Amino acid sequence: MDIKNNQAIGVFDSGIGGLTVVRALMERLPFENIIYFGDTARVPYGIKSVETINHYATQITEFLLKKDVKLLVVACNTMAAVAYSAIKDLSPVPVLEVIEASARNAVAETRTKSIGVIGTPATINSNAYARAIHLLVKEVKIYSQTCPLFVPLVEEGWFDHPATRLIAQEYLKPVLAEQIDTLVLGCTHYPLLKSLLQEIVGPKINLIDSAEAMADATADLLNQLNLGNANKLPPDYLFCVSDVPYRFQTIGERFLGRTLGKVELVRL
Ligand code: DGL
Repeated sequence: MDIKNNQAIGVFDSGIGGLTVVRALMERLPFENIIYFGDTARVPYGIKSVETINHYATQITEFLLKKDVKLLVVACNTMAAVAYSAIKDLSPVPVLEVIEASARNAVAETRTKSIGVIGTPATINSNAYARAIHLLVKEVKIYSQTCPLFVPLVEEGWFDHPATRLIAQEYLKPVLAEQIDTLVLGCTHYPLLKSLLQEIVGPKINLIDSAEAMADATADLLNQLNLGNANKLPPDYLFCVSDVPYRFQTIGERFLGRTLGKVELVRL
């Protein structure tokens, strides 16, 4: 397959959360064209079955491949955790996923060798983080916690709301009772709650935000494959969602601190 350097990078997520990865990519790779897909009609994914998540992930992959992307970035931890092999099997272009990048960062950061991981029920129940971390280092203790209410709170734009704070305190109690020094934000939605979560866990615990790790991994891979965009022109960004583009635009612009430009409604 002949891949051209000026083809876009395809990034996808169940909703708005993958914009954390888009923001990191825009900063790290300012000349890359990006096509983003957020499945706003069907979010949240993290409480759905493995079969359903696989089905949705397959549809999104097919959509982005039709858009001629040169690389697929699975920003969504939930899809990475349960549908990575389905996506990879389908894709003739390289696929990068978020879990390995975050696991790597967590292992590099921890001193106590006790790592907390928070994520959606699908991600935590898949055990994908524990597997990825133990593949890197065996003698690390992992304490996981599902936080199913975080995704709707973020999709609502409640990044710093008293209700979000209360729920976060409750969710984090068990992991904070352990001697963790590192907490993986194992869902792309969670970095949007980063300041609130940092206040709750205190300054001694490192939060692992996978967005930057993903951007670094993307930059490395493009470099390695010689696929970086040689056109040093302002890039094209296209945002596609499966429902209510206006809402995505409003919350997304608030988060990115810039206009999103085109937000298209796409029915898969
Ligand atoms: N943002 C996704 C993740 O990283 C999933 C959120 C959801 O749809 O439940 O896991």
